[in-house]
Amino acid sequence: MGRKDSDFLELANEIRELKKKRNAVILAHLYQRPEIQDVADFIGDSLGLSQEAAKTDADVIVFCGVHFMAETAAILSPDKTVLLPEVNAGCPMADMVTAEALRARKKEYPDAVVVCYVNSSAEVKAESDICCTSANAVKVVRSIPADKRILFVPDRNLGHYVGIKSGREIIYWEGYCNTHDKLTAEDVQKAKEAHPQAVVMVHPECRPEVVALADQVFSTSGMIRFARESDAEEYIVGTEMGILHQLNKQCPGKKFYLASSKMICPNMKATTLPKVKWALEEMQPRITVPEAIRLKALGAVERMIAVK
Ligand code: 13P
Ligand code: SF4
Repeated sequence: MGRKDSDFLELANEIRELKKKRNAVILAHLYQRPEIQDVADFIGDSLGLSQEAAKTDADVIVFCGVHFMAETAAILSPDKTVLLPEVNAGCPMADMVTAEALRARKKEYPDAVVVCYVNSSAEVKAESDICCTSANAVKVVRSIPADKRILFVPDRNLGHYVGIKSGREIIYWEGYCNTHDKLTAEDVQKAKEAHPQAVVMVHPECRPEVVALADQVFSTSGMIRFARESDAEEYIVGTEMGILHQLNKQCPGKKFYLASSKMICPNMKATTLPKVKWALEEMQPRITVPEAIRLKALGAVERMIAVK
């Protein structure tokens, strides 16, 4: 065992002890570092994590992910302490829409229903009619009366995908994920040439021309479910590299190739075991949402959760 592994083991044990002491639950997104995923009580996609945050009976939620995820937990569970071990872990895409800019756009399209991707601030959620994640975006849009136009913020790529799948008229916002938007059709073609037998699965945050080349389009948890259940032995994976840890762990014997080595989200990698330990010791940094904003944002999140 290398020094790093034994350090990780020791830290993980200390974190487990602190977790008991604080009655805390550790939620981790699938893009987190492997050692963070291994210490988590629940690992999932944005939808699964928000459902878990809503139903946990722990007093403290340690969110190993990015700011909007911890904020969504705080919106759903105002009585719990929500900790984000690396407070500077943000989502550049979420920062591409502000409540002020959205209010201005709503004036241009007063009849449109505003659907906000969960990758957005609490203020933006508060200005929206309904929230969605990559796992339920198509269902959410289909739940909206057919005569309504949809203003979709902030991810233009997910908006485009949802428009095609639902056949609905979508007014896009020019936001995008730095990590997924980097993946080009050429990268995918090259990966396909290198691994002709592999199933291509990509995240809907990828560009439309990349999505068009894919065999399957899924949220992160959707990819894991599909790989577990499918008979295929090889997969080209078009999403952030952190997902490989669970794919390899949960699908032994199958082969997973990242569509491009560029697919790393630095914000998702900013959380480390020492920061998780420190957060539990100090009960910081806490994420809270002002009550007036929280209540409005909660409406959009609860309407999403209610869509079956
Ligand atoms: P999902 O895990 O919900 O598919 O989201 C991907 C993502 O980019 C989260 O930041
Ligand atoms: Fe935001 Fe993209 Fe990073 Fe997810 S992977 S947190 S969408 S920048």
